[in-house]
Amino acid sequence: MTVALHVNVDHVATLRQARGSRYPDPVHAAVLCERAGAAGITVHLREDRRHVQDRDVRVLREVLTTRLNLEMAATAEMLGIAKTVRPDLVTLVPEKRMERTTEGGLDVVGRREELTRFVGELRDAGIPVSLFIDPVREQVDASAAVGGAAIELHTGDYAHATDVQTARRELERLAAAAEHAASNHASLIVAAGHGLTVRNVVDLVRLVVPIEELNIGHALVSDALFEGLEHAVTSFAAAIADGESRR
Ligand code: PXP
Repeated sequence: MTVALHVNVDHVATLRQARGSRYPDPVHAAVLCERAGAAGITVHLREDRRHVQDRDVRVLREVLTTRLNLEMAATAEMLGIAKTVRPDLVTLVPEKRMERTTEGGLDVVGRREELTRFVGELRDAGIPVSLFIDPVREQVDASAAVGGAAIELHTGDYAHATDVQTARRELERLAAAAEHAASNHASLIVAAGHGLTVRNVVDLVRLVVPIEELNIGHALVSDALFEGLEHAVTSFAAAIADGESRR
């Protein structure tokens, strides 16, 4: 099974919002990611609109040639937006106003009735739903029970492990949850994401075999910054030299 890379372009929008400018545009970034081979683009439209804006989601829907995965909280406002934009997939995430990023998985077990209704509304509109959950079997079972088409396992505890034993234990939890999904809910697509880097993704893919999709954002956008920095300095130096030569 090949593992599809979906790029989360939220952090391109973060940089734009920091200055209230029109650049860098996450839509531009998304198109480049597609050209480089990304299987899809993920954006999180947060309630506070701290990075991705409504316009970004609308334009992405128009221009993407791969898949658009809209991460959002299970609120009435987001339900309306999803029904209008019609992404290829909605990923439901828990959202807290003060958090820096999505800190934990959705408690599907504890919110079963509410989520059954919410997932049902999206499904009736023809939009499949993924649930972003901690790697816990009960959450996997509940995600299937509420009508989820996919689960995304939260890899944050693995990614943030500071010693080898913890990383190994977290990988085992992820593998157990993914294997549980594959053997008990065959139609459930298993994705994973959060905090993944070029270093820690290797063992995740090696050892958590049933994973079909990865959503990667922060480290990928950070790497892109350094991989492009020398080129950007050269371009600015050339522009300054150009100005000087025309004095
Ligand atoms: N998956 C989900 C559900 C997320 O909320 C995020 C962060 O927005 C990611 C994946 C990507 O995480 P990161 O930016 O750490 O790669």
